[in-house]
Amino acid sequence: MQSKKLPDPNVIHPIPGYDKEIYVKPTVKNPNVVVGEFTYIADAEFESHVTHHYAWIGDKLVIGKFCQIAAGVEFVMNGANHQMNAVSTYPFYTLEGWNMQPPERRDLPLKGDTVVGNDVWIGQNAVILPGVRIGDGAIIGACSVVGSDVEPYTVVAGNPARPLRKRFDDGLISLLLRFRWWDRSVEEINSLIPILTCGDLEKVREELTARL
Ligand SMILES: CC(C)(COP(=O)(O)OP(=O)(O)OC[C@H]1O[C@@H](n2cnc3c(N)ncnc32)[C@H](O)[C@@H]1OP(=O)(O)O)[C@@H](O)C(=O)NCCC(=O)NCCS
Repeated sequence: MQSKKLPDPNVIHPIPGYDKEIYVKPTVKNPNVVVGEFTYIADAEFESHVTHHYAWIGDKLVIGKFCQIAAGVEFVMNGANHQMNAVSTYPFYTLEGWNMQPPERRDLPLKGDTVVGNDVWIGQNAVILPGVRIGDGAIIGACSVVGSDVEPYTVVAGNPARPLRKRFDDGLISLLLRFRWWDRSVEEINSLIPILTCGDLEKVREELTARL
């Protein structure tokens, strides 16, 4: 689609007249959720897709630029994981009337921040478990349950999500990770689109190398 108006990372609805796809960044209120420009979700809002995310735990969800998040995706944060090193997993301390202080942090199975790179495509209804790191350019299959880290430019799918394949050879992956097209200006990205969407990967390799 050709347009005279430049893409604006601060608009919420990038498709005029359609409210079920939003740029996420301008909608985020939680300081522990950090989302890069032009990442979108196929929904009218984002933060209900981030669950069990409690300020007292302090874990962060960090998502890069230009990610494509399908409908029904859920980022499960560390507050979801009950204590597992005792005989009962029942969270008495959260419920009124039970004599239990909150557990020490060391007794909880905290996995750290969830970090998603740039230009990551997350398929419909995928679940991203706490502490997972997903590299730039990865693809997460529909309905996957992602419990371990995903290498850059790798396609994973299933429950548990396992690599199906690398998207490109190591040389092109390392070129893309050095080039970082997502960090360029909107004007430059606009001029790069014929390269970014070209299926002739030898030509892409040449063009990107020439521009580094
Ligand atoms: C992950 C995906 C991109 C893989 O596409 P692909 O590279 O063309 O892979 P294939 O269709 O050749 O499948 C390869 C294998 O993975 C399996 N597979 C593919 N997607 C899968 C998924 N989501 N979950 C489990 N297994 C999956 C296939 O059954 C096949 O298994 P086999 O080798 O045993 O026959 C695609 O299947 C997918 O899930 N797309 C997401 C679509 C979506 O949710 N879009 C949201 C709107 S944007």
